[in-house]
Amino acid sequence: MPPPTPSILFVCLGNICRSPLAEAALREEARLRRLDLIVDSAGTGNWHAGEPPDPRAIAVAAKNGVDIRALRARQVTRADFTRFDRIVALDHDNLKDLRRLAPANATAELSLLLDHVPGREGEGVTDPWFGDEAGFDVTWDEVTAAARGLVAAIR
Ligand code: 4NP
Repeated sequence: MPPPTPSILFVCLGNICRSPLAEAALREEARLRRLDLIVDSAGTGNWHAGEPPDPRAIAVAAKNGVDIRALRARQVTRADFTRFDRIVALDHDNLKDLRRLAPANATAELSLLLDHVPGREGEGVTDPWFGDEAGFDVTWDEVTAAARGLVAAIR
């Protein structure tokens, strides 16, 4: 039997800014490196469930050649902890919420996104939601660096 396809879920608060960008960046990196991956994203909150990403997130992804308009926000579920090999939190609050939500039979390995960027281990990704568009460029750079680190770790 072929080995199972590695699976990664990114989790932020709303699933409309940071984690959709992380999802897009990893999908793009995997495509470039010809690596087969299952990639998804979710939010710890459900306020934006069913909505597309924030227009500023759509714009920064488009600027970098990735179309994320078809993504729709969803809330993380307890089933995600056994469906995915890795669950990657965007910040410390997300990680804390995930640890609280994890069922006893959880198998997914939890980490922070910037743990996958050499020299930035243990740092959280700032929420660009309250800031201006420049904040989304910073987020894009961070999720792209992490996507490279994740692909290198998985290969
Ligand atoms: P995200 O940003 O967690 O990066 O998707 C947020 C978007 C919306 C809200 C919070 C964070 N909100 O409170 O509505």
